[in-house]
Amino acid sequence: MRRAKIIGCGSYLPEGVMTNDDLARIIDTSNEWIEQRTGIKARHIAGKKETTSDMATRAARRALEKAGLEGKDIDAIFLATTTPDQTFPATAVTVQDNLGMGDKGFAFDIQAVCSGFIYALATADNFVKSGQINRALVIGAERFSSLLDWTDRTTCVLFGDGAGAVILEADDAAKGTKKDRGILSTHLHSEGAHRGQLYVDGGPATTQTTGHVRMNGREVFRHAVTRMGEVVVEALKSNDLEGKDIQWLVPHQANKRIIDATAQKLGLPPERVVITVEQHGNTSAASIPLALCTAVEDGRIRSGDLILMEAMGGGFTWGAALARW
Ligand code: UT7
Repeated sequence: MRRAKIIGCGSYLPEGVMTNDDLARIIDTSNEWIEQRTGIKARHIAGKKETTSDMATRAARRALEKAGLEGKDIDAIFLATTTPDQTFPATAVTVQDNLGMGDKGFAFDIQAVCSGFIYALATADNFVKSGQINRALVIGAERFSSLLDWTDRTTCVLFGDGAGAVILEADDAAKGTKKDRGILSTHLHSEGAHRGQLYVDGGPATTQTTGHVRMNGREVFRHAVTRMGEVVVEALKSNDLEGKDIQWLVPHQANKRIIDATAQKLGLPPERVVITVEQHGNTSAASIPLALCTAVEDGRIRSGDLILMEAMGGGFTWGAALARW
């Protein structure tokens, strides 16, 4: 039974940090409001000329280094982003070039907004399991600050920039049990009827502009709690596992209150939940790999640990992935 093992991870955050107090100087908000409602204290903001592919490349290089590999050892790049450098080509091909891969393999972008990393991981996992590729680079990278309306306090306080990457490698010796290292299962969902709750009011085929993020926060919150609660149960059930079997919940980092609700649903104590939303804000597709790398680098996540990742975003899209580290 072929399985995709995670053999390295890397992340990158831009140097620039914007605190809640910095925001309160430019719009009608306060540190208290933002922290109480979301758990966010600060977020990183990309430099003027720093692109999504720049951040993705830095995270990818770090992941390759951790895995002891080079770009040419990779068969495919799956890059989740909502903020591509250009409408086309895919940001993934710039990363392929930056990594010196030449014409080795293939690279494309995946667009599922905040669920993007789970979608990219699921896609890469299936390419590996089918035998089509042996090694995949899966990246979540966002320059979300470019999509923000800095006069809209209901959205601009929530998001940040950054990138995270993992490397998947085929393991043909896996026995196919839940004890094997690697991705155990992935679960994807979407419901397009809700696409008007969280969207960007621009695009090449409509306004011919980039547009800004618009969100009905309360509705998104309500759906997020319900759908993430459902999908984590689905992931556990399909592997005949229970909440207590999970060592680490690594959720999408949108709002601490949503994360707490999911952890509660699983019966997981706060010390087994990886939280980075305080310092990163919501980095959309980058949030899960950023959180994952934080907990791997500080020694919390160790080989053999069972990790549950989950996300929900515009579309609506949502999903989960269960992996043994
Ligand atoms: O990654 C997936 C996508 N995003 C999410 O998952 C986000 C989901 N939604 C949320 O996290 C929450 O709905 C928010 C954090 C966005 C908002 O929290 P809320 O508790 O739902 O607040 P609200 O939208 O109901 O607003 C409450 C009040 C309003 O004032 P009134 O109408 O009660 O007078 C807002 O105008 O707070 C006001 N408000 C603010 N006040 C200060 C909204 N934004 C701000 C702000 N600073 N930045």
